[in-house]
Amino acid sequence: MIVVFGSLNMDLVMAVPALPRPGETVLCPSYQALPGGKGNNQAVAAARAGGTVRLFGRVGPDGFGAALRANLAANGISDEDVRTAGAPTGCATIMVAPDGENAIAVASGANLEARSADVSDDALKPGGFLVAQMEVPAEETWAVLRRAKAAGMRTVLNLAPAPIPTPALATAVREAVDILVVNELEAATLASGLDEGAASVDAATLCRRLADALRVVCVMTLGGRGVLACDRERVWAVEALPVAVVDTTGAGDTFTGALAAALDAGETLPQALRWAVTAAALACCGRGAQDSMPAADRIRASQANLPPARELSGNWRVPS
Ligand code: RIB
Repeated sequence: MIVVFGSLNMDLVMAVPALPRPGETVLCPSYQALPGGKGNNQAVAAARAGGTVRLFGRVGPDGFGAALRANLAANGISDEDVRTAGAPTGCATIMVAPDGENAIAVASGANLEARSADVSDDALKPGGFLVAQMEVPAEETWAVLRRAKAAGMRTVLNLAPAPIPTPALATAVREAVDILVVNELEAATLASGLDEGAASVDAATLCRRLADALRVVCVMTLGGRGVLACDRERVWAVEALPVAVVDTTGAGDTFTGALAAALDAGETLPQALRWAVTAAALACCGRGAQDSMPAADRIRASQANLPPARELSGNWRVPS
């Protein structure tokens, strides 16, 4: 069982000719309202990748909330664990450039009312996975992670969006997180608060330093260059699956959800990394966070084109 605690948003997606610079207005002909929010995306990604999933979060008493509930049902996830908040459903404005890069602003709304107490004790069972991100109140996320760990679950935190790094953040990660998923920017932000010297080190060194300092399995996504992961002893690298990128929105969420699904199914870390890298690449092939999130059979077929995960020696460098 994979339990996700996190955000649900309606994404208003605009395909713009170029991302606006500060003070600039850009025009595009239309927009699409699509299901999103990192928690919601990770739950849907895990379910499509073959996981059995419960999602705990909040939406507002409005049309966006009703649409997000219907989308969960369409993906085989019950909406019974999603409570109705007083505030409106979270909403993100997402601008996507022709090269697939994006800029996102989120109005948190109902997500700010998500509470650890929303997650019932019966959901926290030994052996399962608890997946969280940073789009609901941080203190509630830490509380759920601690409860999950105490209940014998394995915990996965996608540290996105990256919070301001503090010693308390490092302590919270050390206490409550088993697997930390970060992109390069999030890794550098986290390391800057740890005196881990992020500025001039290569990605593999940074990944190793975070894993050691925080006592976690550190998984660092590198976009089109694949992924790195460090456990206590080893460094693993998986190349990215080459695809024609349409929209990278939700790629990190797809990676995190698919990783949890594979680990929950009993795969080893290198196998799960390969599964998740494949899912994330396929998710970049369509517009929006969820439209192109792949099902398990598509991931299985596509990962045949990906070389196996490589175990790296200590002096390996990520190609630039
Ligand atoms: O990671 C992508 C997600 O970030 C979007 O779906 C948007 O809602 C924001 O939460």
